[in-house]
Amino acid sequence: MNTTTKIALVTGATRGIGLETVRQLAAARVHTVLAGRDLGKATEAARKLQAQGLPVEAIQLDTTDDASIAAAAAAIAARHGHLDILVNNAGVLLDNDAKVPSEQTLDAWRKTFDTNLFGVVATTVALLPLLRKSAAGRIVNVSSGLGSLTLHSDPHSSIYSYKIPAYNISKTALNGWTVHLAYELRNTAIKVNAIHPGSVKTEMNTGGSLDLATGAKSSVGMALLDETGPTGGFTHLGEVLPW
Ligand SMILES: NC(=O)c1ccc[n+]([C@@H]2O[C@H](COP(=O)([O-])OP(=O)(O)OC[C@H]3O[C@@H](n4cnc5c(N)ncnc54)[C@H](OP(=O)(O)O)[C@@H]3O)[C@@H](O)[C@H]2O)c1
Repeated sequence: MNTTTKIALVTGATRGIGLETVRQLAAARVHTVLAGRDLGKATEAARKLQAQGLPVEAIQLDTTDDASIAAAAAAIAARHGHLDILVNNAGVLLDNDAKVPSEQTLDAWRKTFDTNLFGVVATTVALLPLLRKSAAGRIVNVSSGLGSLTLHSDPHSSIYSYKIPAYNISKTALNGWTVHLAYELRNTAIKVNAIHPGSVKTEMNTGGSLDLATGAKSSVGMALLDETGPTGGFTHLGEVLPW
């Protein structure tokens, strides 16, 4: 591997926005590791992109499994020695939207936070030593406009009535983690940003209006930021969103 080649890793990349993020990064000639909790699915998805001439490889990574995270970090260290871009894309939505906030199960809350917050923290901490070896590390946390407390408190906001608390608040917490990690890394070459992909038509959001190409743009934009770009922010297609 040429050491000047940028290396990226995208979690939850077997389908949806994650898979398209891999495609766009690889099309920008970033060597991109397509991470999936099912190695078979990840390998198959990577094979299709490789067949288009794109620099993609697969890896097994379940962001809720410490052993899987450690093995993936060791594999990236052995294969590439460093990591330039980490896109924390894996996410779940487990609330029952037919129920009010106080009726969501504690099981749904716990499982949601396991993936959408603790999985991101664990994966990031494990890969941070490799990101520190990059000349320009970039961490992108795939959040959601639904995590915005400002919008949720505004009766005129389009999301005002969409109160699915486990999912929404897991993204609020992810935004908080983004601000805290960006502060810790403020004097390093690593930038940390949260993004909202938009309402994108995927398995998670069958009623989404945006296509995947548009849905991946916010992640890719923050992944490819130059040194003048922001850190510790929350944006959609480059526009700042309220916390
Ligand atoms: N779609 C939208 O409108 C929208 C809006 C705002 C934010 N987002 C965020 O965008 C991200 C991608 O969403 P999407 O719409 O593309 O959803 P999706 O089609 O449901 O894809 C989710 C991906 O996450 C993976 N995943 C789930 N749990 C995982 C775990 N523990 N470890 C590793 N991978 C895991 C899934 O893998 P499997 O294939 O193994 O299940 C799948 O590849 C999520 O963080 C979501 O919250 C989406």
